[in-house]
Amino acid sequence: MIDIHSHILPGVDDGSPNLEESIRMARIAARSGTSCIVATPHFNIPGEWEDPERIRAAYQELTMELSRQEIPLQLRLGMEIFGTEDAPQRLMDQELWGYEGTQYILIEFDFDENPDTVFYILDEIHDLGYVPIVAHPERYRFVQRDPEMVYEWRMRGYGAQVNKGSLMGRFGRGPEETSHALVARSLVTMVASDAHSSRMRTPDMREVWDMLSAEYAPHVAQRLMQDNPAHILRGEPFETGHPKSFFER
Ligand SMILES: [Fe+2]
Repeated sequence: MIDIHSHILPGVDDGSPNLEESIRMARIAARSGTSCIVATPHFNIPGEWEDPERIRAAYQELTMELSRQEIPLQLRLGMEIFGTEDAPQRLMDQELWGYEGTQYILIEFDFDENPDTVFYILDEIHDLGYVPIVAHPERYRFVQRDPEMVYEWRMRGYGAQVNKGSLMGRFGRGPEETSHALVARSLVTMVASDAHSSRMRTPDMREVWDMLSAEYAPHVAQRLMQDNPAHILRGEPFETGHPKSFFER
């Protein structure tokens, strides 16, 4: 499996606080069957101090420690960009980055963001030649109210990454029902851990793989947790099957 969204880098955001915890998280990931994890630290959060150099240093440090301890887990670097109206400009100025070496951008929003603002930001990013992938749409209240929006994003070629914890019911009824409705309509590009620690919101991907395999067609887990993440990291088009609108039965 490839886990495309995690906060495993030590000391750069509200995820792992130090190298020891990052290593604990890495061992959990590797044991659960993950071969590659992408570190996607929060970035571009208004009012917060940010330092891309610190992220790169933490990435180097963890990469070296994984190899020193012979943990069979590949580490890649991305970023979870907070969606602000100046995010497209900052991307153009190369102050922000996506999945390294690709056109794909992982972007999150305020849970109560105005949907018009969300569309504006996504479309601007797309116009610059990037492909936005919306992080955990099922957790946003504006998506829970109007999940058809994810179908509209899909029609524009944008991706949607759903969290393990939402599908497993750990964030409550709203995210659980919305995440399953999106999977059932083939509107999800990838499922990821969005791991923040080794105890809560962990990088254990086995449980959600098993749940998807039990509840959906056999190819679903493979597509959302292996094939599409691999396509994204190679900068290739992803597959969702036949996306279905919420207005179709
Ligand atoms: Fe995240």
